[in-house]
Amino acid sequence: MSVKLNLIVAVSENMGIGKNGDLPWRLRKEMAHFTRLTTSTKTPNRKNIVVMGRLTWDSIPEKFKPLPNRINFILTRSDRDFSQYKDTYKFSSLKEIISSLETEKFKNEFESVWVIGGASVYKEALSSPYFHRLYLTKVQKNFDCDAFFPQLPESLKEISDTEVPVDVQEERGIKYTFHVYQRV
Ligand SMILES: NC(=O)c1ccc[n+]([C@@H]2O[C@H](COP(=O)([O-])OP(=O)(O)OC[C@H]3O[C@@H](n4cnc5c(N)ncnc54)[C@H](OP(=O)(O)O)[C@@H]3O)[C@@H](O)[C@H]2O)c1
Repeated sequence: MSVKLNLIVAVSENMGIGKNGDLPWRLRKEMAHFTRLTTSTKTPNRKNIVVMGRLTWDSIPEKFKPLPNRINFILTRSDRDFSQYKDTYKFSSLKEIISSLETEKFKNEFESVWVIGGASVYKEALSSPYFHRLYLTKVQKNFDCDAFFPQLPESLKEISDTEVPVDVQEERGIKYTFHVYQRV
């Protein structure tokens, strides 16, 4: 089982992640943290894969699509065509994604796999045997949301990662902290 799924998410105190197909907040440095973690690789000629549900893909402004310097994997049960986008592939199940990572097409191309949302994709990935780590930003405020992060499994322990700052962050009067969890 060589595939490892890393989840990355920012969650409000009331476990919210989204509202009206968008983020409930604008936290520029939090977004930069997301971009840095999901983009950086140790192997220069490899990219990371970002796995997302179709609504998360739709929530990305057109000018930022596909997420640059990453291989974009979109989960959808529809026959929508994404072939106009560079480095972008669609899949109809997480299982199909896991199998494709072992194929010649991808296995020597990527370094890490990041699951970037939304709710149902996080839920499926968290309970998958391939789940590795959860990179969680706790936004210390309640927000009106219509998309929520699933309940955290009990079998998680917090770990430290030198890539993730430990001090409290603050932007626009909103405090937040970065956390990393791994399956026990
Ligand atoms: N705070 C954060 O860190 C964060 C991160 C990501 C997203 N968000 C927010 O979350 C919201 C979007 O998330 P969401 O939960 O509403 O939707 P989502 O998970 O992004 O997308 C749901 C869609 O993904 C497809 N899908 C999901 N699981 C699938 C599977 N196993 N197999 C095949 N297709 C699958 C289906 O697409 P089809 O309908 O096309 O079949 C489904 O309708 C937005 O508000 C966004 O801004 C927040």
